[in-house]
Amino acid sequence: MLKGKDMLSIHDLSVDEVEEILALAAELKAMQKAGVAHRILEGKTLGMIFEKSSTRTRVSFETGMYQLGGQALFLSNRDLQLGRGEPIKDTARVLSRYLDGIMIRTFGHDRAEELATWTDIPVINALTDLLHPCQVLTDLLTIREHKGKDLSKLKMVYVGDGNNMTNSFLYGAAKTGMTFVAATPEDYHPDKTVFENALRDAEETGADLSLTTDPYEAVKEADIVVTDTWASMGQEAEHEARKKIFAPYQVNGDLLKKADKRAIVMHCLPAYRGEEITEAVFEANADVIFDEAENRLHTQKAIMALTMGD
Ligand code: CP
Ligand code: NVA
Repeated sequence: MLKGKDMLSIHDLSVDEVEEILALAAELKAMQKAGVAHRILEGKTLGMIFEKSSTRTRVSFETGMYQLGGQALFLSNRDLQLGRGEPIKDTARVLSRYLDGIMIRTFGHDRAEELATWTDIPVINALTDLLHPCQVLTDLLTIREHKGKDLSKLKMVYVGDGNNMTNSFLYGAAKTGMTFVAATPEDYHPDKTVFENALRDAEETGADLSLTTDPYEAVKEADIVVTDTWASMGQEAEHEARKKIFAPYQVNGDLLKKADKRAIVMHCLPAYRGEEITEAVFEANADVIFDEAENRLHTQKAIMALTMGD
């Protein structure tokens, strides 16, 4: 279903396509653990454009492509002519002639969309200021592993800054029927258009999506509590001011007393201990958090296999 398509946003995926990605990710994970070869992308090349830093995304895409029998090229904007002002539409048409797929991590979401418009190969969003779909699909796989396959029975609460992760969680929850609450300060709610789109997507699955400013009310009976940095890439200058604004939104032991006793805490990493999460809560949930990091590999392999495969 996804063959030849871009993967810029979970909103663009059908409910069945989300299921297809999660099912193949689990299958590829089992194959890799069992040492069974799965060279689905033999002879194919992925270009990886990075205009922002990365640890997990770069290593998991590059390793994933290698395990699928293909190769990946790390293309930093410090080295590409893109970084010296070559237009995206020219870069896109050139790269289309060499590559079988492109992964991009950039600032404005419109840059990823423009790249996709001008290429005839799949473009995968590896984080924009607006969305981080590969991470949220990964988180859905990780939730299934820890909390069971039927996500519609679960309540997930995001606490902190309404950012690219929160926006993608809204779309991910909408496609899987979850109950999802985002607790953020008044001026830091998720993107308004994303919320409206997600509410429409939710009509198909029955997902219950809501926004609040009260983290203590929100986390009541939560099965999953999730947070992310208070200052995303590109917001470094606001970091000190944000620490004050977001202080009441820390995921700590006191907040978690309100959640379900068996609640898990998730974090896409990198984490800033003492800010959005305490050291104690992080370490108590380290198994889940590092499963989440590992699952980037399996989920992105599924996305690449489905979009770039023959
Ligand atoms: N979670 C995530 O995307 O990590 P990186 O920024 O290290 O790629
Ligand atoms: N919201 C964070 C996610 C990092 C993986 C950022 O955009 O920096």
